[in-house]
Amino acid sequence: MELLNQLKWRYATKRFDTSRKLDADQVNSLLEAANLAPSSFGIQPFALALVESDEMKSKLSPAAFNQPQVTEASHLFILAVRTDVSEQDVDQFVDRIVKTREITREEVADYEAAMKGSINKRSATERFNWAARQAYIALGTLLSAAAIQNIDACPMEGFSNEQFDEILGLKEKGFTSIAMAAVGYRSPQDAYQHHKKVRKSLNEFVMKF
Ligand SMILES: Cc1cc2nc3c(=O)[nH]c(=O)nc-3n(C[C@H](O)[C@H](O)[C@H](O)COP(=O)(O)O)c2cc1C
Repeated sequence: MELLNQLKWRYATKRFDTSRKLDADQVNSLLEAANLAPSSFGIQPFALALVESDEMKSKLSPAAFNQPQVTEASHLFILAVRTDVSEQDVDQFVDRIVKTREITREEVADYEAAMKGSINKRSATERFNWAARQAYIALGTLLSAAAIQNIDACPMEGFSNEQFDEILGLKEKGFTSIAMAAVGYRSPQDAYQHHKKVRKSLNEFVMKF
């Protein structure tokens, strides 16, 4: 299976070739893949902050402990989660359903009520954790979409969410950064590409019932 081969090919890239950049089609394909990831109810309580400019990468670098991926990668895809998922997110989702499927709001009234009920019964922390889990599915989908196109990436949580939010102005928009993918092409000098992949055996990983 091609995807499996590419998942063996990919690795968390530490050093990128700064002379190689993704083109617009490649960037779009990764944005589309992340946007196509499934989410609970389909609400998508997260967004993606795309960083392309060297200036912004340099600003973010100290907030990510100067990990070289941040300035050397072609693009940073930063997953940002809604800080306070509310009925408003459901309303916007229902707007999208009605418009896309050309139906009336009445036809989705029960679904809307179920979604609002599910959100309202959770505490703010539970809503945040729930939203964050959705964002990680998008991150995983993006990483697989990159790998299948021979595009390198490093998933990263090693940064200050507060500082990223401040620099990118995410808080005002109702979002907070949670994880990112630094994306580009591996440097031939990156020793990590030669490391054998360490994973559990399937016997350790799978519990059969
Ligand atoms: C959620 C998450 C956060 C990560 N954060 C970092 C990071 O901040 N810096 C880094 O160099 N690698 C980071 N990694 C990469 C992991 O260390 C790497 O995926 C793991 O060691 C397995 O190696 P592989 O991806 O090369 O197969 C992160 C991975 C994940 C999934």
